[in-house]
Amino acid sequence: MKKLLAILLLFSAATARGIETETGPYLQAVGEHEFTVVWTTDADAVAWVEVAPDDGSDFYAVERPRYYQSEHGRRTIGRVHRVTVRGLEPGTCYRYRIFAQQILERESSHPIGGRVAASRVYKHEPYRMTTLDASRPKVRFSVVNDIHGNDSLLCRLLDGVTRANTDLVFFNGDMTSSVDSEEQIARAYLGPASKLFASEVPLVMVRGNHENRGTFSYRLSDYVVTPEGRFYYMFRQGPVCFVVLDCGEDKPDNDIEYSGLADFDRYRAEQAEWLRRAVASDEFRNAPLRIVLLHIPPLHYDWHGGHEVQERFMPLLQGAGVDLLLCGHLHRAFYTPAGEDRYDFPILINSNRECVRVEASADGIVAEVRDAAGKVTRNIRIPKR
Ligand SMILES: [Fe+2]
Repeated sequence: MKKLLAILLLFSAATARGIETETGPYLQAVGEHEFTVVWTTDADAVAWVEVAPDDGSDFYAVERPRYYQSEHGRRTIGRVHRVTVRGLEPGTCYRYRIFAQQILERESSHPIGGRVAASRVYKHEPYRMTTLDASRPKVRFSVVNDIHGNDSLLCRLLDGVTRANTDLVFFNGDMTSSVDSEEQIARAYLGPASKLFASEVPLVMVRGNHENRGTFSYRLSDYVVTPEGRFYYMFRQGPVCFVVLDCGEDKPDNDIEYSGLADFDRYRAEQAEWLRRAVASDEFRNAPLRIVLLHIPPLHYDWHGGHEVQERFMPLLQGAGVDLLLCGHLHRAFYTPAGEDRYDFPILINSNRECVRVEASADGIVAEVRDAAGKVTRNIRIPKR
């Protein structure tokens, strides 16, 4: 009787408090046949996504299929929700809605389902997203880096990014100076990105050296979902095969700053073995264009992380038909055309105050660099090699 009363009290207190979405949703690991939606709630919940075709029907017209986050056959209870929707068609627009049902008495063998926090589709339009499509003739994407927690700058740089004008947005590293808590990364970039574009435009995370710092950095992968579950990966959109690399830290692994915990030399060596296979793959070789994103540049930089990038990754990219390498880290802008320095591909190092907006098609690449006021500061044309 006492236990029942306690459960009822807990239930009424918790349901009175309810459950709210805190951050998100934002799109991750979007492919031709799948996408993942990530969001957080202020209470433990079981989460799902409902998906409807973009066919003009009302979202409430029929019961929509539900996709749950589950692991080893059981639906996941938690605050950070990562729901993957699979079995989709390439290049197709879908509408989606997020749900999270609060779980009361989580430790009980019979948890109780409480209130539900859901995105609205009654008075508001549902979220829309479009799966990737290798047959599309062009791709348009934006890149920012080295934001170091300056959320107002981030918002100004990405102002105007919508599903209609942008296929992907890359955060090319050092989005905060260290990763200290969920609240911090939510405030710095996950929240602003969700509000600006990422509920409808895929957000692609590239780790910088600073993503490895801070007590919460070990948890970053709870919030960042990648196609292959690692921070280095490859995917195709339109004519471009994108390769995302993970630079690791900038100083030697034994530097006192890393407290004996850095193991990046070994990590980069393993990554290089993956990259060797990646550039030999049909997906890479058969793509009309190949664009690589890597936070630490292989030029203008003499620290250990730069040497590692030069020695482990660049020999594999040299001669592999790379059309553009996009970097950051230096907080200054440099553009080096193919063949001008030691590499046979162009390298654009973006500053920490500008956004690169790229359009790539079989004709080549146009990269427009814009400042926070939206002024175009540089226009780079790279013809198809
Ligand atoms: Fe950096």
